[in-house]
Amino acid sequence: VLHSPSKGTVEPEPDGLVLVGKEDDIKKSQRITAKVNGREVVVFYHEGRFYALDSRCYHEGGPLHLGEIEDIDGQPCIICPWHKYTITLETGEGLYQGINPLEPSPTPRWQSKGEKQRIHKVTVKNKNVYVSPPDLSVSFDSDYFAEKYKNGGDLAM
Ligand code: FES
Repeated sequence: VLHSPSKGTVEPEPDGLVLVGKEDDIKKSQRITAKVNGREVVVFYHEGRFYALDSRCYHEGGPLHLGEIEDIDGQPCIICPWHKYTITLETGEGLYQGINPLEPSPTPRWQSKGEKQRIHKVTVKNKNVYVSPPDLSVSFDSDYFAEKYKNGGDLAM
């Protein structure tokens, strides 16, 4: 007689992927927070796609999981609730509105400060959503806050 594995047993993924939730649940809630190798990560489901980022804003550690998503120049962005920094969901770029004073009638335009917020790879497999462990050989500004809040209790405001 074969014994089925006891309930609640989580099979470790060979590639180190971390299970963050069920596809259907995240599609419903549109966002979820999880711990991935000790760091706080937020997974968003937005217009048919999953995105994962460090949940602590690269500026001063604000809670991105409580921010609003806005479309800016065709890119979905999370707006940090603390000081309204704008971060692209796909690349983790910090955006700002810049003005070229040399233009005849200077108009603010969105520009990139570069990749500031660490993003994470999301994999959907068998109706489950996984996040890949971060590649720490490359660093991002948000790492400072990810480290600071690492293994801390629940996500606070
Ligand atoms: Fe996010 Fe300042 S902490 S904008």
